Amino acid sequence: MRVLLVTGKGGVGKTTVAAATALGAADLGHRTLVMSTDPAHSLADAFAVPLGDSPTSVMENLDAQQIDSQRRLEQYWGEVRDYLSDLFDWSGLSGVEAEEMAVFPGMDELFALADVKDHTTSNAYDLLVIDCAPTAETLRLLSLPEVLAWYMEKIFPAGKKFHKAVRPVISRMTSMPIAGNEVLDSVEGFYGRISGVRDILTNPEITSARLVVNPEKMVISEARRTYTYLGLFGYAVDAVIVNRVLPDTITDPYFKRWQEIQAAHLETVEQGFAEVDRRRLRLFDEEMVGVEKLRLLCEELYEGEDPAARLSMAEPFHVMEVGDDVIMTLAIPFAEKGEVDVIRVGDEIVVTVGPYRRAFILPDSLKRRKVNGAKLSEGVLAVTFT
Ligand SMILES: Nc1ncnc2c1ncn2[C@@H]1O[C@H](COP(=O)(O)OP(=O)(O)O)[C@@H](O)[C@H]1O
Ligand SMILES: [Mg+2]
Repeated sequence: MRVLLVTGKGGVGKTTVAAATALGAADLGHRTLVMSTDPAHSLADAFAVPLGDSPTSVMENLDAQQIDSQRRLEQYWGEVRDYLSDLFDWSGLSGVEAEEMAVFPGMDELFALADVKDHTTSNAYDLLVIDCAPTAETLRLLSLPEVLAWYMEKIFPAGKKFHKAVRPVISRMTSMPIAGNEVLDSVEGFYGRISGVRDILTNPEITSARLVVNPEKMVISEARRTYTYLGLFGYAVDAVIVNRVLPDTITDPYFKRWQEIQAAHLETVEQGFAEVDRRRLRLFDEEMVGVEKLRLLCEELYEGEDPAARLSMAEPFHVMEVGDDVIMTLAIPFAEKGEVDVIRVGDEIVVTVGPYRRAFILPDSLKRRKVNGAKLSEGVLAVTFT
């Protein structure tokens, strides 16, 4: 089983690349599903076929699906939402506010992960290509399983017992709505549905992230940040795809200047993402919509290679023994010294990079050790345990 996450800034060509990648893999005989988690779905437009919330066949070996997050929300979170909304309502929020508060930002996207897990465990497909939402949402989505696991492990086991014990007492004392078993079961059930998905997505042999960029300054800057944060959360990037490169065959003086500008950005990508595969895709002279055009695009992009293959072996996370020490390394390319912070809190190492934070729960072998220092050099954070 392989999973490819295709992400990048809005409009760079994510959907086109995801669709073409899936198509190329299907042509090679991989049973492929391409699914979109971007609420602004455009997979159906890319293939020029109608698509829905469940996998629909596009051609032999290729299904496509556009996740309807609102529907998933009802399905999995309905009961919890109703409870939370009663609770907020009781606390004095107006009905509409209470309803909105009961769904936290990113919640709807999270439900796509339940589908990812189902598909990776069902054995119906060899390859899952995920056409992700623009980077900010994708990062939030990819960091959520970790955050949720943290809450569930820390709070929930106690929460359920606590609730059982205090529910009768509290309900005698106050009119506050108390979560019933069905609510707790539904929280637990949902967590069960997505638990384990992180292990799949952070296993570089299974999952690779592909960053799509255009040869433009702002797009590349954002891709560098994405690369850093993906590293922080342990997701392996295997390729950067530079899309909409002006071909050399264009000799119009108007575009000459643009070609020079693009050349500089292409060089930035070559250097900045040296450890992963880098590919270019020209700006075609028409919109690349429909199976035939996507197939052409795929051929130019992968040049006969298997689109499902792991295009580079770079891995963000390692633990190694060096003499008596154990060193944990984390690739967070482009991170600056001033924005990285490492602290130990009990049995966890908490790494902060800019606005993102990840808590590493230490294995027993490391818990007994002391953190002797953390060093950032050339985009790699090394934490030494003695
Ligand atoms: N290399 C390319 N040459 C020509 N048109 C392209 C190319 N890449 C993408 N497009 C077109 O640009 C538009 C936006 O691409 P899309 O894949 O939907 O971007 P995103 O999913 O990142 O928002 C689509 O109409 C698509 O056909
Ligand atoms: Mg898209």
